[in-house]
Amino acid sequence: MWNFARKMLRDICYRVPKTPHFTDYPSNIELELTNDCNFSCSHCPRTYLAESIYYLDFDLVEKIVSEIKSYDCCSLRLVGLGEPTLHPRFRDVISLITSANIKLELTSNGNIFHIMSLEEILVSGITTLEISIDGSDVTTYEQKRPEGCHRFLTSKIAGLAELAKNATDKPRIVVRRVVFPNDSEEELRLYNEYWFKYSDSISYNIYTPVGRSTIYENFTKCQSIFSELKIRSTGGVPLCRFQCNFQPEIELGNIANSSIQELWNSSALNERRNVFLQENWCHIDYCKYCAKQQEGKVNFIIVDKQ
Ligand SMILES: C[S@@+](CC[C@H](N)C(=O)[O-])C[C@H]1O[C@@H](n2cnc3c(N)ncnc32)[C@H](O)[C@@H]1O
Ligand code: SF4
Repeated sequence: MWNFARKMLRDICYRVPKTPHFTDYPSNIELELTNDCNFSCSHCPRTYLAESIYYLDFDLVEKIVSEIKSYDCCSLRLVGLGEPTLHPRFRDVISLITSANIKLELTSNGNIFHIMSLEEILVSGITTLEISIDGSDVTTYEQKRPEGCHRFLTSKIAGLAELAKNATDKPRIVVRRVVFPNDSEEELRLYNEYWFKYSDSISYNIYTPVGRSTIYENFTKCQSIFSELKIRSTGGVPLCRFQCNFQPEIELGNIANSSIQELWNSSALNERRNVFLQENWCHIDYCKYCAKQQEGKVNFIIVDKQ
């Protein structure tokens, strides 16, 4: 009951401009298990970063899970700038999180189908399984994701949907697609028609330009820093989960030395939130490069199967 009230209050607070926020804990934590990837998608910021490769220490995953499990308003997303399934202890991570009854969303480029069987995925306890399939058809998908195979993904997702028909506990299957400026409505309609045969929802993510090029000046209250926290594969916690798309990340600290609660309530993050609450845009140097802050801009749309 308390968790439900907490969620309601927080939602109301961050929707209304200038209201003080109610945010004693993040509602969602993005966990980057690794920044390693087996793909090199042309539109992905990762493809252009020259970074060392990290895998989040399993000890740190245990620490994070033990902190979160008493907050049932907080869910975990395994995503970040890399392919989460490449973590050497990926299966252990999944069982650790799901056995602590934490809601778990996993975003994968489809590599999960090489790591786990469809039967295993079905009973894994993953709440939402998101598979990224950018591009409208075989040709455009394989242009955008040269290492991927559209036919393989179709057969695996169709197989999972078939198995899920008779299962009680099953992940929600979401197909994700980046929407590029030149995508036509007809392409999106055909994509819907194709993927709704096998998925519960389709998530359309608006393309974020890679790099620090555009300055945006029409700000809205940032929803992300009032509700979400990101933990990188180094254990570092950036100020915001979108920062890596356009500039080097400023870090609040490292999860190895601080608790989630400490980082979430840190003065650096609260100062940033106050800039939005007071609409003090002249102090917003860091956020002005973030495409997520354009006034009225919708970052993603999730459409559920009717
Ligand atoms: C960075 S990937 C990491 C997870 C996994 N490797 C995958 O591809 O699903 C997370 C999501 O970001 C999306 N993405 C990549 N580049 C993007 C961009 N420039 N703008 C918007 N979304 C993007 C991908 O399509 C994917 O759904
Ligand atoms: S598979 Fe995901 S992380 Fe890897 S390059 Fe593509 S979008 Fe980026």
